[in-house]
This record gives sequence, structure tokens and C-alpha cells, in this order.
Amino acid sequence: MTQKKQILFINSGKFKFIDLFAGIGGFRIALQNLGGKCVFTSEWDKNAQETYKINFNEQPFGDITKPEIKNAIPTDFDVLCAGFPCQPFSKSGFRNGFEDTRGTLFFDICQIIEKHKPKYLFLENVANLVSHDKGNTYKTILKNLDKLGYYFPVEPLVISPDKFGIPILRPRVYIPCVRKDIAKKNVSKIKNIIAELEKQFTNDINSIDSVLDKTSENKISSYELKILKMWDEFYKGIDLKVIGFPIWMEFFKYDGNLDNFPLWKAKFIQKNIDLYTRNKKFIDRWLKKHDNLDWCVKTHRKMEWQAGADYKSVFDCIIQFRPSGVRVKRPTKFSTLVAMNHQQIIGKYKRKLTINEAKRLQSFPETYKLPKTNAIAMKQLGNSVNITVLERIFEIILRKFS
Ligand SMILES: C[S@@+](CC[C@H](N)C(=O)[O-])C[C@H]1O[C@@H](n2cnc3c(N)ncnc32)[C@H](O)[C@@H]1O
Repeated sequence: MTQKKQILFINSGKFKFIDLFAGIGGFRIALQNLGGKCVFTSEWDKNAQETYKINFNEQPFGDITKPEIKNAIPTDFDVLCAGFPCQPFSKSGFRNGFEDTRGTLFFDICQIIEKHKPKYLFLENVANLVSHDKGNTYKTILKNLDKLGYYFPVEPLVISPDKFGIPILRPRVYIPCVRKDIAKKNVSKIKNIIAELEKQFTNDINSIDSVLDKTSENKISSYELKILKMWDEFYKGIDLKVIGFPIWMEFFKYDGNLDNFPLWKAKFIQKNIDLYTRNKKFIDRWLKKHDNLDWCVKTHRKMEWQAGADYKSVFDCIIQFRPSGVRVKRPTKFSTLVAMNHQQIIGKYKRKLTINEAKRLQSFPETYKLPKTNAIAMKQLGNSVNITVLERIFEIILRKFS
């Protein structure tokens, strides 16, 4: 057994934790790495349960909203971990306390906290939980945590793995909490945990090659290559290097009334018309050469250049085929992992990110086993959480409060 494989299975027991909304066990690996022992897991998705079982040799309990499953949680544990789904609460504010959250999974979390009062909570969610429902959702969560007897960071702790040098932009909000009686004189350490974390932040992001294999797997299709070559030619031929608006080929020659569009759209259309007018000779030749783009899927007739002026070719960049168009970004970091068929393309290798590479971007151990079906594996990794970020945050909690 290799060193890394062992890490995955050490369930040592310096502290005990429960893993709710466990997915494929991102929290579990992070907290085990810090010396914790998992004493209960809940995850209802059958595929995720299977992946969890293969890696941790344990079958997660199912639906956490069911009383019998809540009752299966052992009384003795120190940390409650939960990367729970984001849901809106009642509009009535905090007048009714927990009642405002009834019917949501956060309500179930609160019930478990109220019953067991663990020393620490470690919650995680999508970054826009903070602005969800004009900030009401996040505020309601904090009010409930306060009422339940916990301190938490005063400013939302929104962190992306690139802060620790990992080449992926994936901001998430983390809510580490410490029970008020434990925090004692260290209250400011949890309220202002960001100051402690910032000491570890780096501007040196590892190159994308640090997570890439030398593989010929996942080559893009000849259709995708044709699209990329076509937009590469376009970018090289026009007079703009920093394009601050989406390129919409269908509007190049638009001569209708722009008042019929919302203002933001009218502005973009005008910019496309201006671009065409200035580059008419080149664009007409380009359109003719590429059969007026008639063979392209509609969304591929749009291109969003988000790589500034530092890169000369589409093939120097990271590309994504998105519903909004072919998006071209700087090759310095990947974006959030997406479904396999929309996966990010590494321009210079003319191939998409593989499962093993996505695993590294989420800081999962090399030995972690994922389903053979790539689409399921990528979905599970995409839903998961970056293990390094969890470890860095919780290490501070353990250092300051235990
Ligand atoms: C955002 S994911 C969390 C992923 C996890 N942090 C990881 O590292 O893989 C939320 C998970 O909650 C699970 N879930 C949603 N409702 C649930 C419920 N009622 N009972 C148990 N699990 C549930 C989903 O299946 C999903 O895997």
C-alpha cells in the first residue's frame, strides 16, 4: 500500500466528525488527514454512495431528513461537516427563528446541531449563497448559527483553491464555527479567521502543466478542432486584441432597429456591427471560407475572448464550449469543473481535461477511485469540494481551539 493510499484510510481519532451531504467524501479525506475519525456519513445519491463505499469501505446512510437516519447519528462527535445544497428560506426574516428555515436541508442541519451541540461545525456552499435572495439566505443561516450558540467568521469566507497555488478558480463560501463556550478568549480568531488564512495565500499559482498528464486521451473531435481553428483565424485577423464584448457573428450585418433589444444587448450588437464595418474585407473573406458558419451549431457561432492581449492564439488558451458561446480564457488556471461534454479544452494539447487531472484540481489523492463512466466521475468531482482548502481552514480551527 502506498503512503497516499494509507492517508485515505487512516481514521485515527484525534477528534470525531460526522460527514453530512457527503458526496464522495471530500470533507472526510480533509479531516482524516488532520487526524479525525469519521463516525457517521449521510449521502443519498446511489452513485456517490457507491464511490464512497469503494474508497472508505463504508455504506453511507441515506436521506438525512428522515428521523430514523438522524437518530442513527452517534451522540459522541466533535465536528459536524456539511456541504449542503443552497435553498431559499421563508421571506419572514428571522421572526420565527428556525421555523423560517423549515422544509430546507439547513433546517435538518440545525436540528442535528441543537440535539448534539458539537464543538465545531464546518459548512460549505456555493459562493453565491452569500448574495442569494438579496443576502437573506446567508443572514438567516448566520442568525440561526448564532442562536444555536456558535461563533463564525464575521465576513463571508469566500475562498478559491488558487489562493493556495492550485490552478483552478472555484470560489466557495466556507462557514467554520466554534461553540461559544469553547472559543473563550479566542473569539476574534474565529471571527477573523481570514487574517490567519491570508498568511498562507500565495500569488504563485502552479502552472496548469503541474496537474496535466502527458496523455493523448480525450482529444477534441474534428468538429471541435475545426471550430477552434476558425475562431483562431478570426482573432488573428481582426483589429482588436482585447475584445471586451461577445462576438456574435449573426449580428455583423444587422441593420434593424436596436431599440427592440434591451440596452445591454443593443450595446453588444452595435459593437459587433462596428467590428464588422472596420474589418469588413477580412471578415467577408473569413465568412466565405467558412461557408457563412452554416455548418456550426448555433452557440458555436459566438465567441467570448476573455484572455486579454497576452495570448496570440486560441490554441495558447483554455477553451470551453458553453451555451453562451466558445469561451477563450487565459491558460493560467482552470474554471470550475463542468459536465464532461462541456469540459475545458487545453488549447496547446487540443484535448479536454481528464478525470485524473480534475481529481488533482480538487486535491484528491491519486489513489482515489472514481466510477468508470467518465460523465459520472466528472459530476461527482464537480460537486465535491477542494480538499486542500478544507484542510487549511480546519487546521487553523484545531490549532487555535483544541
Ligand atoms: C454539494 S454536494 C456535497 C459534496 C461533498 N461535499 C463532496 O465532497 O463530495 C451535496 C450532496 O448532498 C446530497 N444530498 C442532497 N440532499 C440530501 C439528503 N436529503 N440526504 C442525504 N444527502 C443529500 C447530494 O446527493 C449531494 O451529493
